[in-house]
Amino acid sequence: MSGKYEGKVAVVTGGAKGIGRAVASRLASNGASVVIGDIDDDLGTSTAAEINARFIHCDVAVEKDSADLMQFTVDTFGSLDIVHLNAGIASGVTFGAANTIAAYKKIASINLDGVVYGMDAAITQMLKLNGGKIIATASIAGLMGLSLDPFYTITKHGVVGLVRAVGPNYLNETRIEINALCPSFVDTDIIAMAKEFLVQANFPILDVSDVADTFEMILESDQSGNCWYVIPGRISEPFQFRNIPGPSN
Ligand SMILES: NC(=O)c1ccc[n+]([C@@H]2O[C@H](COP(=O)([O-])OP(=O)(O)OC[C@H]3O[C@@H](n4cnc5c(N)ncnc54)[C@H](O)[C@@H]3O)[C@@H](O)[C@H]2O)c1
Repeated sequence: MSGKYEGKVAVVTGGAKGIGRAVASRLASNGASVVIGDIDDDLGTSTAAEINARFIHCDVAVEKDSADLMQFTVDTFGSLDIVHLNAGIASGVTFGAANTIAAYKKIASINLDGVVYGMDAAITQMLKLNGGKIIATASIAGLMGLSLDPFYTITKHGVVGLVRAVGPNYLNETRIEINALCPSFVDTDIIAMAKEFLVQANFPILDVSDVADTFEMILESDQSGNCWYVIPGRISEPFQFRNIPGPSN
């Protein structure tokens, strides 16, 4: 298949459905060799068949699964150019629930540990190759507090902080770019419980293709350490963080 990603090799975690599927499909339909890693084996297998990708079982909360996913991709296709660390869940609880701490531990293991493991595995491979581009799916909840789901908010702030901290480090010497996607509400299963409320409130909801569009903008930016917002009706760009005040002396 020919296209602008011809010859590129990509990994997408959480690629069985939703945003990950949209990005994986966009890359594959433009010529990339794509490997989907997901915990849902049935859906991952059928999605991969539909969009011309490969599927590997990967629970991002398991460190070895991320390492195996990146290694399989390099062994199969000989490179690792684009990695989308996208798998994630909502917790759906806050303090005072019967399962508060269990829910916190679960979401932290997927949304935060999963990104750290995936980034470590990707960078390990990219340092041996010729650089690469890593894009983590954070959220607008990485840039603001989402009171409905404070544990989701923690994990997405963590991803934003990680990208800001490591993004600039690898750019010059190794040509590894690390950026984040920060979408507002997107029409996927993760917002199923809130969708009716959002529709009733006339709150605009993004389509997965909007997020895939911004994903491509990040790839084309050739920058690192940026957290790109995706908001209905606005052209995506890196969020501008305010600098902390300097010492007053
Ligand atoms: N939909 C939104 O409104 C929205 C907004 C901002 C950010 N996000 C983020 O986008 C990412 C994708 O979410 P989505 O909206 O496409 O949801 P989704 O539920 O449609 O897709 C999530 C995918 O991740 C997979 N997954 C879940 N746990 C996993 C694990 N432990 N290991 C591997 N795969 C796992 C699921 O099987 C599924 O295929 C998430 O990180 C989410 O937090 C979503």
